Amino acid sequence: MLKLNYAITRVEEEGAFAVSDRAMALKAQGYRVINLGIGQPDFSPPEHVLKAAEKAARDGPHGYTSPIGILPLREAVAEMVGTRYDLQINPDQVVIVPGGKVTIFFAAMLFGGQGSEILYPDPGFPPYREAIFSAGAKPVAYGIHETADFGFDADEVLNLITPQTSLIILNSPANPTGGVVSPQEMKKLADGLANHPHVAILSDEIYGHLVYDQSRFVSLLQFEHLRDRVILLDGWSKTFAMTGWRLGYGIWPLNLVEHVHKLVTVDHSCVNGVAQMAGLAAITGPMDCVDDFLASFRQRRDLLVNGLNELPGISCRLPGGAFYAFPNVTGTGLASADLAHRLLEQAHIATIAGDAFGENGKGYIRFSYAASQDELIQALARMADFLNTA
Ligand SMILES: Cc1ncc(COP(=O)(O)O)c(C=O)c1O
Repeated sequence: MLKLNYAITRVEEEGAFAVSDRAMALKAQGYRVINLGIGQPDFSPPEHVLKAAEKAARDGPHGYTSPIGILPLREAVAEMVGTRYDLQINPDQVVIVPGGKVTIFFAAMLFGGQGSEILYPDPGFPPYREAIFSAGAKPVAYGIHETADFGFDADEVLNLITPQTSLIILNSPANPTGGVVSPQEMKKLADGLANHPHVAILSDEIYGHLVYDQSRFVSLLQFEHLRDRVILLDGWSKTFAMTGWRLGYGIWPLNLVEHVHKLVTVDHSCVNGVAQMAGLAAITGPMDCVDDFLASFRQRRDLLVNGLNELPGISCRLPGGAFYAFPNVTGTGLASADLAHRLLEQAHIATIAGDAFGENGKGYIRFSYAASQDELIQALARMADFLNTA
């Protein structure tokens, strides 16, 4: 009998990929499936980014780069984020990684180990919990509440902190809800964390550029007293429609970078040079594509949310960011997992049951509205038919 590591064999697959596979299988059988399941923009990356990648594919870099990324890219990230939040970031704090997820795993590994507790949002991005388990730590869920516009209650989070808590994972704007934590609640949490200097924070801001009202968005890096223990996660996947390029970054407190540097060298050596050059072009070139993406997402959000609210048994809050809607479907009388399953198999609309995002996700379904307006209109019509006959 092989002696496999239980911490790894118990890992649960991210549900969105399984739904996508099934949607593709149905498509291959000739069904006209509308995929509102997977969380990725349906745009192409901007033209100047593609040109930079073409050039890099010819001219290089072809070899290993610095494990934490080419210096011009780290400088550009430091400059972009520093300018945005009016603070100084040392390029040596920036670690370029193959996709946003890698920073989650590195943070979990660094703050995990037996006996440590890591707080994470429920409902939340499924890899948080899996990364915590894999790192040998205890996952401790805190609630994300519909009544708080899908934010958290800072007191609830603070009350879960124990002497064993090593890390809190935050995510705003959030997957799967599209919720943006209010500046007041974020400040309350940041103030409270001053009393827990042993706790680091991983702030997953991968949707930080996709916020419909920027005045409502606060980055954890804006709290000076926390800067020596905040890890900021971001990347190119969602902002520049580059999910398949596998390019992300973490901004780490300087004294942690040596550990992450070592993890990179033993894990993946560096990110491929072509993706890094494309990423450099994206953040140093014109960024109007991001405004265009956001304007388009706003129209789709309004269309979908208004339409969902007209359907029997469904009520949906207007999400403040990302490209997800997370309607409450309890009024349909169907369990969310059953509803999502039947929507896919009978109405050929791929969505993700809220259950896939944690216990508190039960009773909800995630819609990714990174789809054309035509597809959204069709999906709403199919859902109306389905719910009126179910
Ligand atoms: C909240 C959140 N963080 C991180 C990621 C990972 O992004 P990437 O595809 O760059 O690994 C995602 C992707 O869906 C996400 O939703």
